[in-house]
Amino acid sequence: MRYINDDLKDKTILITGGAGFIGSNLAFYFQNNHPEANIIILDSFRSGKTLSNGNLKSFGHFKNLIGFRGEVISGDINDKDLLLNLELNYKFDYIFHEAAISDTTALEQDLMIKTNVNAYKDLLEIAIKHNANMIYASSAATYGNALSPQIVGRESPQNVYGFSKLCMDNLSKEYMKKSNIAIVGLRYFNVYGPREYFKNTTASMILQFGHQILAGKNPRLFENSDKILRDFIYIEDVIQANIKAMHPKESGIYNVGTGRARSFQDIVDILQKELDTTLKCEYIKNPFIGSYQFHTEADISSTKEKLGYEPGFEMEDGIKAYVDEIKRVYAQEVKK
Ligand SMILES: NC(=O)c1ccc[n+]([C@@H]2O[C@H](COP(=O)([O-])OP(=O)(O)OC[C@H]3O[C@@H](n4cnc5c(N)ncnc54)[C@H](O)[C@@H]3O)[C@@H](O)[C@H]2O)c1
Repeated sequence: MRYINDDLKDKTILITGGAGFIGSNLAFYFQNNHPEANIIILDSFRSGKTLSNGNLKSFGHFKNLIGFRGEVISGDINDKDLLLNLELNYKFDYIFHEAAISDTTALEQDLMIKTNVNAYKDLLEIAIKHNANMIYASSAATYGNALSPQIVGRESPQNVYGFSKLCMDNLSKEYMKKSNIAIVGLRYFNVYGPREYFKNTTASMILQFGHQILAGKNPRLFENSDKILRDFIYIEDVIQANIKAMHPKESGIYNVGTGRARSFQDIVDILQKELDTTLKCEYIKNPFIGSYQFHTEADISSTKEKLGYEPGFEMEDGIKAYVDEIKRVYAQEVKK
C-alpha cells in the first residue's frame, strides 16, 4: 500500500541499516511504490564478530535484500571517512536512519553510545548540509519500566540500549531548535514481520514461537503469560509511520505501536489457530521477575495527530499476514 502521493523522481533516499529487518522493508517499500526514487543502502552487514553476550555485532544479511535493485554500500557509520565521502559525493533528500546496535541485551556501553548516539550526530550534520529530512529509529526501551501507557516525556531507561536511544532523542531536540529540516524520532514498540529472521535470537517472539510450533514442539512460555503484555506492532504499520514521517506537521518524537497491549499467551493461541495445531503449552518460571517489563502500551495520540498515522493491524491481522512467510523461512532456513 502507498502512503504518500509524492513524486520521488530525482529524489535520493539514504537508508542506514538497510540490510536489517526494518531498513530492508523500507527499501522494498520504496522500490515497489516509488520506483522512480534513488535508494541508497548503507549497512555494515554481518562479519561474524560477536559481542560479549555471544550475539552478532551486526545482523545485516544480504538475503534481506535479494531483489533490491538500488545501490548497496557496505560500511560502518562510525567511519568518519566514509561519512565524509557520502557528504561530498551524494545529495540526499531524505535519510532513514535504522543502523544501530539493535540488541537490547548488549553490554558494551562504549560501542553502544558511539554507534547509536555519536554516529547519529554525524549523520544529522550531513542531513542539515544536504537539507534532507531525518527520520530515525528511537525505541520503546527509552521507557524502561515506566507505567503504561508509555507517554513521550516519561522515560526511565533500564539498559544502555534504552539510554542510547534517549540520548538520540535529546540530541534531536537540540537540532530541532537550531535547524530547518524536519527531524522525526520514531519510538518503535515490539516489531514483528518478514525479514526479521536474521536477527537470530533477538527476532520477535512471534517468529520464535511460530518456529517452535512448526517443529512440533510444545510452546514454552513463562508462567502467567496471559498477564505479560506488550504492544506488538506489525512491520507494515512501522513502514506507514516512517513514510508519513517524511512530511510531519511538526518535528518531534513519536511512539509507534498499536496502542493496545496483547499477551504472550495471545501470540501462541493465534499462531496455533493459524497453523492448525493444538500443542499443549509448557509453563516455566520467569527468571526475570523484578527486571522484566510486564505491560507496554504506546500512547499514540500525538503520532496520529502530527503524522496522520493510523495503525491497521491487530495482532490477529499481523499474524495472518505473516504466517506464510513464517512457514517459508522455517522450510528454507531453519530445516535445511
Ligand atoms: N525491531 C524492533 O522491535 C525495534 C524496536 C525498537 C527500536 N528498533 C530500532 O530500529 C532500528 C532497526 O532495527 P531492526 O529491528 O531492523 O534491527 P537490525 O539489527 O535488523 O537492523 C540494524 C541494521 O544496522 C546495521 N548496523 C549495525 N551497526 C552498524 C554500523 N556501525 N554501521 C552500519 N550499519 C550497522 C546492522 O547490520 C543491521 O542490518 C534500530 O535502530 C533498532 O534499535 C527496533
